[in-house]
Amino acid sequence: MSLSGCAEDRCALPLTHFPLVESLFCRNGSEAMTRAKVTSETIRAMKARGERIPALTAYDFPMARLLDEAEIPLILVGDSLGMVVLGYPDTTHVTMAEMEHHVRAVARAKPRALLGADLPYQSYETADAALANARRLVAAGTDVIKAEGGRDILEQVRAIIAAGIPFLGHLGMLPQRVLLEGGYHVKGKSEPEHQALLADAEALANAGAFAIVLELVTPPVARELTQRIPIPTIGIGSGRDCDGQILVTSDLLGMLPWYNLKHVKPKLNAAEQMRTVIAEWKLGVERPKVEGTKH
Ligand code: KIV
Repeated sequence: MSLSGCAEDRCALPLTHFPLVESLFCRNGSEAMTRAKVTSETIRAMKARGERIPALTAYDFPMARLLDEAEIPLILVGDSLGMVVLGYPDTTHVTMAEMEHHVRAVARAKPRALLGADLPYQSYETADAALANARRLVAAGTDVIKAEGGRDILEQVRAIIAAGIPFLGHLGMLPQRVLLEGGYHVKGKSEPEHQALLADAEALANAGAFAIVLELVTPPVARELTQRIPIPTIGIGSGRDCDGQILVTSDLLGMLPWYNLKHVKPKLNAAEQMRTVIAEWKLGVERPKVEGTKH
């Protein structure tokens, strides 16, 4: 294989179909030879080895670089993009074009992490639509596709997997159904919900999903699901017993002081620190220049 397309540590060759080869040959130093690209199989195997799976969201190049340098194995361009970056009231406004734009930005970081992307609202109504839109997001640079639902989207899931695109499930509270359900409600409290979650999780695992995000599922049901299915569960607001945890990075960093979330306590008050720095800089600019002093 010719490596002539590798400019320093960034590949010029369109090697996106060979991510392992790319990561081995196109990064600098010995690190490049030891840190292979994370695949959906890597994530699946982490459950078998009893390894916890940390996952975070990114919507742009610098955050993707930071998360990848922190060795987060799974980075998701979630459709939370709509609320976190684009200022929409919920995720039902996010379009395919917006997802593609942000997947491209994140993919330019060439993460070693497995890169996932959400199919946005109403972009997977049929198996044909799901596959066509999944292919668009893969062309934009994602490695795997996530969509919300269980038995109700099995045809779509099967079409995506049959095309060779790894699929990440999403069960529990489904943000794309916020208008239908009139809010964000914890799932698994009633026996019918409990049974539906079990059946959906088993159906997704049988269809070939490599992992399932569990959002706002009661911790006992999340634990039971985690024990019952062979693929990893990645929880958000679903207790500590999932195989992994995922958060919206902006929530973890305290970048959105306008929202009060129950499931995450920010580990940094980034918004407050940014306000302080901006205010200090503004004062510095506004301070009248004293004649004779150097700047
Ligand atoms: O859209 C998103 O960011 C997500 C994660 C929070 C799981 O679906």
